Amino acid sequence: GFALSANASGTSAKSSGASDSLVFDKDAYTELTTTITDADGTDHTVVYHFWKAITYVASPVDAKYQSLNVSVPVKIDGKAVDATSAPIVLANSVGGYLPSSVADATGVGGAEMTGGMPTGGAAASASPSTSPSPSAASSAGTGEVQSGGNAMVNAQGGMVNLGKLGLAAGYVVVEPGARGRTLTDSAGTYYGTAPAAIVDLKAAVRYVRANKGVIPGNTDRIVSTGTSAGGALSSLLGASGDSPIYDKYLKELGAADASDAIFATGAWCPITDLEHADGAYEFNWGTNVTASTGKVVDQTVSKALRAQFAEYQASLRLRGLDGFGPLTARNYDDYMVETYLQPSATKYLAALSEADRATYLAANTFITWSGGKATFTWADFLTHVGARKKTTPAFDAFDLSAGENNEFGVGTTEARHFTAYGAKNDTTGLSTKRVASDIAEKLDLMNPMHHIGEENPGRSRHWWIRLGMKDSDTSLTVSANLAAALDNLGDDVNHLYYWDEGHGSNVDPGDFLTWIAKVTG
Ligand code: DHB
Repeated sequence: GFALSANASGTSAKSSGASDSLVFDKDAYTELTTTITDADGTDHTVVYHFWKAITYVASPVDAKYQSLNVSVPVKIDGKAVDATSAPIVLANSVGGYLPSSVADATGVGGAEMTGGMPTGGAAASASPSTSPSPSAASSAGTGEVQSGGNAMVNAQGGMVNLGKLGLAAGYVVVEPGARGRTLTDSAGTYYGTAPAAIVDLKAAVRYVRANKGVIPGNTDRIVSTGTSAGGALSSLLGASGDSPIYDKYLKELGAADASDAIFATGAWCPITDLEHADGAYEFNWGTNVTASTGKVVDQTVSKALRAQFAEYQASLRLRGLDGFGPLTARNYDDYMVETYLQPSATKYLAALSEADRATYLAANTFITWSGGKATFTWADFLTHVGARKKTTPAFDAFDLSAGENNEFGVGTTEARHFTAYGAKNDTTGLSTKRVASDIAEKLDLMNPMHHIGEENPGRSRHWWIRLGMKDSDTSLTVSANLAAALDNLGDDVNHLYYWDEGHGSNVDPGDFLTWIAKVTG
């Protein structure tokens, strides 16, 4: 185990990976009182202890991002709460693979995404009543509206903040900041591109665990949450627990010498499996028009990418949930419809009043409602969703304009290709139309599917995965594959698609809190 007095051995903080600076000062809190509206709409008065901007590595590159906040409830609605051994909700607020900082937060749930993003802007792009924002059409480039862990929206378009909800439910809430893709130093060197964000989140987990018994909460019951790029990182954190491939990066930062495994993982609309996402995107949305142009994308490119998806899907050798059998590009449409989309529509329609259901069905005649069940075809579902958000390729853009190209930037190079197809078709005048030699390692460092494929023993065994079915920020197959891969390993997977919801939605936060209580109990 990790000793808080590791320096007594005489080794330096950096080489031992531990230092006095990584000791949680349990008295350094302020007591705050706030009103939190729970998932059922009931207000609660929460008195809590708030620890602010704790740098979680001994040798930070940028402490503004490599720091975390801790919130511990002490009184809820006048009743004393003892959170000493409560589950710990680790709520990241990453959006768009951009930098996220909690350093200026004045209380729980106050993280900021930086990099020019309008705070809370996801409400505009993710509201179920609005179509995908045209400004987000081609890429997740700087200036695009992003979602993040603190910018989820409920069915009414209101904000959902899992940090606040977790606190009101009596949990310890840890909110880590993390470096992101746009950060540069004075020499123009990118220091927040892959794998910085995941390394930071792991360092935060290590910090919490190294302070077991000092920091309130049960370090064996850490539950990670995140949305979109934050959902990708949450699922990666869950899948990669204690993987040695991050060791050298963690050591460099002087991360605490402790396990970075987490107990359970929540991921909303995870934008992950990036090197396979272009093919998956065309499989899913290839025939839909693009929001920005109103036209279908180059069908030659779309078809080439679709063929890559077929090959990839076969290579995964996954079985679908609920006894579906082998999952391939030939049956994935049926799989989505049967396993996820029809049950999602059924649940949605069953919850409506008879009159509202009749109105909905009259406006959506592609749905057959019979015996309390909704049925429809994949083609009609695609028509119902309408315009896709991104052009093609959606992630490894030929002109390097996607946010993900920046995520794989290195040194003073802002953006790079990370797929062979993207590199081969580069339009920026690169002399070498191949991916750089370090990319393969970076992809593994960033992809939960890599760790699941290796059956990483340190992974989470409990998974909550959610995605709005109108979310065309990535393919619906990405989270379905994540769920199937985990299920096939025997993990406990709870995966649903929210009917008629878009990017960044979270319409069942109360169910998530109930699920935490169940799996951690
Ligand atoms: C996010 C959205 C995207 O479309 C993307 O490619 C990456 C991240 C996000 O909202 O975090």
